[in-house]
Amino acid sequence: MPIYLSSHHLKMDEELCFFNQDTLVIKAPKKTPLILRMVVLLFTMACGVYICLVCLKQINPNKTMIKFLNIKVIDYDNESCPDPHLEQWEIPYVHYPKPRTFERNECACNPVRYFAILSMQRSGSGWFETLLNNHTNVSSNGEIFSIPDRRRNVSSILKNMDKVYNLDWFSSASRNECSAAVGFKWMLNQGLMENHEEIVKYFKKRGVSAIFLFRRNLLRRMISVHANSYDKEAKQLNGTHKSHVHSPLEAQILAKYKPKLNATLLIPELKQDEETAAKATQYFKTTRHIVLYYEDVINNRTKLNEVQKFLGLPYRELKSRQVKIHTTPLSNQIENWEDVQKTLKGTSYESFLADYQVSSLALL
Ligand SMILES: *[C@@H]1O[C@H](CO)[C@@H](O)[C@H](O)[C@H]1NC(C)=O
Ligand SMILES: *[C@@H]1O[C@H](CO)[C@@H](O)[C@H](O)[C@H]1NC(C)=O
Ligand SMILES: *[C@@H]1O[C@H](CO)[C@@H](O)[C@H](O)[C@H]1NC(C)=O
Ligand SMILES: *[C@@H]1O[C@H](CO)[C@@H](O)[C@H](O)[C@H]1NC(C)=O
Ligand SMILES: *[C@@H]1O[C@H](CO)[C@@H](O)[C@H](O)[C@H]1NC(C)=O
Ligand SMILES: *[C@@H]1O[C@H](CO)[C@@H](O)[C@H](O)[C@H]1NC(C)=O
Ligand SMILES: *[C@@H]1O[C@H](CO)[C@@H](O)[C@H](O)[C@H]1NC(C)=O
Repeated sequence: MPIYLSSHHLKMDEELCFFNQDTLVIKAPKKTPLILRMVVLLFTMACGVYICLVCLKQINPNKTMIKFLNIKVIDYDNESCPDPHLEQWEIPYVHYPKPRTFERNECACNPVRYFAILSMQRSGSGWFETLLNNHTNVSSNGEIFSIPDRRRNVSSILKNMDKVYNLDWFSSASRNECSAAVGFKWMLNQGLMENHEEIVKYFKKRGVSAIFLFRRNLLRRMISVHANSYDKEAKQLNGTHKSHVHSPLEAQILAKYKPKLNATLLIPELKQDEETAAKATQYFKTTRHIVLYYEDVINNRTKLNEVQKFLGLPYRELKSRQVKIHTTPLSNQIENWEDVQKTLKGTSYESFLADYQVSSLALL
């Protein structure tokens, strides 16, 4: 009979509090010093709070009661929809947007989850996003903050997010009425780190879930960054720049370029990348989030099931047509391989050198 027992406890505590208060008051001289009066007051308040907590604990075992209370407190955006039978913790993350630009029609009562893919350039987030968008019920709208004007100040950032989450953002990826998860891709250097406080507040208020996507091998990322910026200048594919390719031939052409890395800057730069990623996860640790690594998603497709579960999506097999650009061993991809090898030997980054895990030129 745990409930009976705790109500008994409550009585004991109550008596204890009042008893102590009485003795204190009785013992006090007529001209009670202000400090003593304050002590008595604080003590009484503490007792009150304690009693309240004990009372709340007694309600706790009755789960249906709590659920009932919460559903009353948190308004659904569309109250005429039937109860979606969610776990209690899920409620803040489920929404019924009312787009201004169209009607959700038969899907008006399908709940929608909000997400943001937080990543760094050349970490596989483009590929990851095409995989997500292969799901009928996902709209991931690309790097909306790659345009500087949209991230010039916090109010502009929040306004653009409002538009995405209200389903009023239009991109080639936007589905219409039957989206069950909507979001976009955001690079850490696109106003995210500078405005993290406001953004975290927004994520918590609106129930946005963060999907971190990082790359374990930061050396491969660095090569990719160099190769991509070289191609931006040189436009190797018939005069057009492509950051993602769709055929093995295109991939081979782009992989011909071998960057030369500045050995002096190598370790400081790797360290900086590592710290940026750590700082970002630290900033967002109080939001609902998941941390993924590109290498893990490539090597283990069940990671994608984990993501679908995280977003409350019905499970689908997800496919992308993008081809990986760099598939040969690292030693063939860096012009000054010897230098790089010498610099990283014996440091915590040595493991980046011996990395053959992604080796086949597969259509992913
Ligand atoms: C709310 O859901 C009902 C279906 O139960 C739908 O007819 C109505 O249009 C929805 N309202 C909004 C604003 O989405
Ligand atoms: C998912 O990818 C497959 C294979 O490329 C394609 O046939 C299908 O249409 C895609 N589905 C969506 C919703 O994009
Ligand atoms: C924020 O930036 C937008 C777009 O650049 C601009 O139109 C707006 O006036 C700015 N607002 C503030 C408060 O600075
Ligand atoms: C997914 O989309 C289809 C239509 O494309 C719709 O029938 C279905 O209800 C949607 N599922 C969810 C969970 O929203
Ligand atoms: C470049 O253009 C030519 C002729 O239009 C075409 O045959 C070739 O495949 C193109 N190369 C690539 C890499 O797109
Ligand atoms: C490497 O970077 C340092 C610092 O920016 C610079 O002083 C040095 O000249 C660079 N070395 C090469 C080989 O470019
Ligand atoms: C693949 O990922 C799943 C879920 O993320 C995990 O449980 C499983 O152990 C992984 N398998 C391998 C071989 O790493």
